[in-house]
Amino acid sequence: MEIATSLLNVKEEESVHTFYRLETAHTDYFHIDVMDGKFVKNDTVEKMKIYSDNLKNITNIPLDVHLMTLNVKEYVDIFSPNEPNCITFHIEATKDKEEVINLINYIKQYSKVGIAISPNTPVENIYEYLPLIHSVMVMTVEPGEGGQSLIPETIEKIKKIREYIDSNNLDTEIEVDGGVNLDNIKMLKDAGADIAVAGTSIINSKDYRYTINKLKD
Ligand code: DX5
Ligand code: ZN
Repeated sequence: MEIATSLLNVKEEESVHTFYRLETAHTDYFHIDVMDGKFVKNDTVEKMKIYSDNLKNITNIPLDVHLMTLNVKEYVDIFSPNEPNCITFHIEATKDKEEVINLINYIKQYSKVGIAISPNTPVENIYEYLPLIHSVMVMTVEPGEGGQSLIPETIEKIKKIREYIDSNNLDTEIEVDGGVNLDNIKMLKDAGADIAVAGTSIINSKDYRYTINKLKD
């Protein structure tokens, strides 16, 4: 299981020190939670832009950008200069298939592309896009803030997508995001997840290397 550490709840005054600690703890990705204050109530754009700029000067560990924004292209343009590994947008922020296809192709100019689905969005809504994208992000909490508990009903969604990917011989990766911790990571792995995003369970732990290694096991 690869681990992407969410920086949503990292305090700015501690951020550079935290980035170094996470680098030596071998997080696989830095997860950049971009919120526009419209798709979700919080606005983290400025903070996440500062973090992304700083990270490019500090480390080679790839950035995993998660856009929780109504306007997707606007934020692709803001964050693509940071050369992220992947940019993921929410299917709920799009109005039709044509727009989804356009966004997939637009993002592919800059990075890998992922589509995120919120807890109440049926997995069937993204099946048709799976052959076109690098990863699907199954939100295991309602998007908008860190520190929430994983919603158990989302586990079934991971299993269904895993089944669809395997039976169609696709190589799309499954990323899970929200409420991930040492108690539920095995269940998520068994359900078929490839990458897990963790924020609170890592950032609040006293030994990042220990926690990240345990999550990876
Ligand atoms: C929620 C974000 C998640 C969240 C993860 O909207 O997309 O990445 O920050 O943080 P925890 O692990 O605390 O749920
Ligand atoms: Zn996220």
